[in-house]
Amino acid sequence: MLHRPFLSIVFIAQALYGVLGQSPPSHLPPMEPGVFKAHGEVLIDAPIQHVWDILLDFPSYPDWNPFVRSQVVADANFVPLADQTPHENLRLIIDVQIPPLHGPVDASTPGNPLNAQRSLENITHLDNEHYAAAWGGIEFPDEFLKAERWSVLSTFNGKTFYESEEVYYGLGAVIVKELFEEGLNEGFQAQAEALKNRAEIAV
Ligand SMILES: *[C@@H]1O[C@H](CO)[C@@H](O)[C@H](O)[C@H]1NC(C)=O
Repeated sequence: MLHRPFLSIVFIAQALYGVLGQSPPSHLPPMEPGVFKAHGEVLIDAPIQHVWDILLDFPSYPDWNPFVRSQVVADANFVPLADQTPHENLRLIIDVQIPPLHGPVDASTPGNPLNAQRSLENITHLDNEHYAAAWGGIEFPDEFLKAERWSVLSTFNGKTFYESEEVYYGLGAVIVKELFEEGLNEGFQAQAEALKNRAEIAV
């Protein structure tokens, strides 16, 4: 029975590797490195379609999202639309808190006016079949500031892996990095965790 302890150690090591060592593979599209990036991710114990529905239900963002307090689908003149279903080439009026609010939020949670930022964006990609979407700012010329926020879902070990990433390019990104790199990363991660809470509670 001399080999028993050795086999047990191998078994435990394998089990630990399975639990701790494996991180889900990324499904984000390849992106050129920019000046900096913001990133958030989380593994969610809920069906992928359920998480996707929450992610695209922008009118409900104020009820749960500590970073994006409001995201409104609009036409090319930034006039909000009655039908809030997102489609490529529609615009978004996005109000964020940088850094994000702390703790659980609902629609009545007040923002900090000093941390409020509005961004006018365009929905550049929306692939419901592959659970991938992106939107990016259109207020500045690309040469000055270009950034597109990707959000993708994939299935991993029976769970849903949410990743969101925005790479910032251009001279303007140097300024955005100075002011907001840390707060944006906190915001992306806070949204990821709040999405997990909402999806796991309301399956
Ligand atoms: C918005 O995104 C769509 C889809 O990628 C693209 O065809 C369109 O040119 C973009 N519009 C603007 C104003 O950037």
